Amino acid sequence: MKTTIHLFIFFVLSASAEFALADYDLLVKNNCLACHYIDKRKYGPKLNEVAAKYANESGAAEKLAKKIKSGGSGVWGEDMMPPQPQVSDADALILAKYILLLKQS
Ligand code: HEC
Repeated sequence: MKTTIHLFIFFVLSASAEFALADYDLLVKNNCLACHYIDKRKYGPKLNEVAAKYANESGAAEKLAKKIKSGGSGVWGEDMMPPQPQVSDADALILAKYILLLKQS
């Protein structure tokens, strides 16, 4: 019985680790890292700062998913984020939710 529970916990943990890795891969695949680092300022804002800014905002994931696709400027300064039409609606939402879960280190 104990082994079963341990195995179960192992599978749950490894499944969520894979989930997070897959989301990080989306950042790589869609070239987001050309402008964003997670914890260092690059051309665009640090992604963990984005998470902190919207931590208590409802509907933040949907709002950021839209911004990821359509780009824009003026929230973090004058620099412009170009539209990312190669990102599907579903992937934009996955990316937005992933970014919102990032923690300040
Ligand atoms: C050419 C550079 C560039 C690329 C490529 C880029 N970004 Fe951005 N991003 C920016 C800039 C600049 C801003 C700040 C825009 C602003 O101030 O409104 C930004 C802002 C953001 C924000 C915060 C939006 C807000 O309104 O607070 C998120 C989330 C984001 N980017 C995610 C992504 C994701 C995901 C990708 C990849 C699909 C990506 N970015 C690709 C430059 C880029």
